[in-house]
Amino acid sequence: SSLKIGLVPADGIGREVIPAARLAIEALGSDIPKPQFVDLLAGFELFQRSGTALPDETVDALKECDCALFGAVSSPSRRVTGYSSPIVALRKILDLYANIRPVLSVAPTPDEKPKVDLIVVRENTECLYVKQEELKHTENGREARATRLITERASRRIGTMAFELAAARPRKHLTIIHKSNVLSVTDGLFRETVRSVPRLNEGRFDDVQIAEQLVDSAVYRLFREPQIYDVMVAPNLYGDILSDAAAALVGSLGLVPSVNAGDNFVMGEPVHGSAPDIEGKGIANPIASIRSAALMLRHLGYAAPADRLDKAVDEVVRQGTVLTPDLGGKSKTEEVVAEILKRI
Ligand code: NAI
Ligand code: MG
Repeated sequence: SSLKIGLVPADGIGREVIPAARLAIEALGSDIPKPQFVDLLAGFELFQRSGTALPDETVDALKECDCALFGAVSSPSRRVTGYSSPIVALRKILDLYANIRPVLSVAPTPDEKPKVDLIVVRENTECLYVKQEELKHTENGREARATRLITERASRRIGTMAFELAAARPRKHLTIIHKSNVLSVTDGLFRETVRSVPRLNEGRFDDVQIAEQLVDSAVYRLFREPQIYDVMVAPNLYGDILSDAAAALVGSLGLVPSVNAGDNFVMGEPVHGSAPDIEGKGIANPIASIRSAALMLRHLGYAAPADRLDKAVDEVVRQGTVLTPDLGGKSKTEEVVAEILKRI
């Protein structure tokens, strides 16, 4: 049998770090079914060249894959007619309703506990990111509005995924993030629905301890005492911000992986963007992508090969002599990759 893996490097350093993840997967040898890689196009540069950011061929090919890795897109902040983000579209098309972002600090020695060891579970399909915005011209000037959608169905399935992740971890602790003191209807529905998950699962999550926290104070406490958190579940926008903030605690965005997961497909994706400031210099940190590959494999049930990738990365970070500049090192992407491959 083989494992069909779609590769969508897309823009900027995505094209430098996704090939690194491919090499790491190949280095696993017979620990996983023989990987069969499928190179696919998407992104803003493709849009500028061809008028489409996400070709149908890419979507069709992904549907034939077992899983995929996505690099990053250079989405412009201004509105560009005809363009919309391919990663946002793919999450929707493939129904990847959960964005799972583990943030883990590497302990200085193997037996010391990491200072940060948490997972942000972000709802991936709705909230403000349904992108229903309108602009009106009124007597008092322009007025912009956005729709924020929260459904019971999406809140329940993200809640269930979060409880499952929490139940599988040693601490079994879940924090529900919301702002229902202000947004009592939308965030109220999210909070109440996630809280109701254990009741619907007949004892499966009885040993998971539940806490909740308003999103603003969650960011505050995340910086002051990150060790209190285990699994955090949040609506899309809060989850986006929280996971980038959590990434700052471990030194670099270049370290932090994620997967976009649904019931039938999983797509690994480094949390960072296309990093135009370092594009083409050969110094992008490949670790977030290699860890995303590990997370993807773990999600598919290949825990031991995923551990091999994570362990190799941890050793290189702990050793500290071959690192890219974002971690204070002087090495190139390819040197870090070589150092990791040696250990896989
Ligand atoms: P960014 O994550 O691309 O970069 C932020 C900073 O972190 C930059 O200084 C960059 O050099 C550094 N950095 C990021 N990844 C790194 C890595 N692997 N190794 C070393 N340094 C790294 O975020 P920024 O600058 O806000 O956005 C740039 C572009 O990326 C924008 O067009 C944005 O829309 C897009 N973006 C795409 C995302 C995605 O595809 N999911 C996520 C975030 C941003
Ligand atoms: Mg983000």
